[in-house]
Amino acid sequence: MRKIALAAASLVAVALAGPVAAEDVPMDKVEQAVKYRQAVMSTMGGLVGTAVGQLRDGFEFGPGLDTVAASLVATTDDIPALFPAGTDFGETDATAEVWSDAEGFAEKSKEAKEAAASFQEAVASGDKATLMGAFKAVGDSCKGCHEAYRKQ
Ligand code: HEC
Repeated sequence: MRKIALAAASLVAVALAGPVAAEDVPMDKVEQAVKYRQAVMSTMGGLVGTAVGQLRDGFEFGPGLDTVAASLVATTDDIPALFPAGTDFGETDATAEVWSDAEGFAEKSKEAKEAAASFQEAVASGDKATLMGAFKAVGDSCKGCHEAYRKQ
């Protein structure tokens, strides 16, 4: 918590430094860029865990499943952008193939993006069987990329 508060406090300095596009992360921001993508990935993990609690364990409290699905759509929208060139070293679990096989990585990203969109549609439909199938596909898409592009 303290760490997050400190990070939030340092936001002021970041705001003053100006925006950084994915294609030109400067050397002195590589560490932050790695942490940033891990934070976005952790968010996805939290969203999937939230959906598991509701779909498998039946918890009816917490954020609505439609919001969870919408957030998955948002976080999977452009995964390759989270892996800018030059952020392939340091405290990262990304394998070199993320960059050397950018096409394959983009394909896995697309699968996750499409799975999230289908899950959102399934949530809106309210059909439980469709919902479970669509959610499983989301999990499979995460796993599919991790097996290929994340250090085990
Ligand atoms: C296209 C590839 C790809 C997809 C799709 C993908 N991930 Fe990841 N994920 C990665 C890579 C690569 C890393 C390692 C990042 C790093 O350490 O720099 C990672 C790391 C993570 C981490 C660890 C973050 C940390 O704090 O170190 C979590 C949690 C995670 N992913 C969850 C998910 C979930 C949940 C999904 C599906 C909704 C998903 N990922 C989809 C490639 C992917």
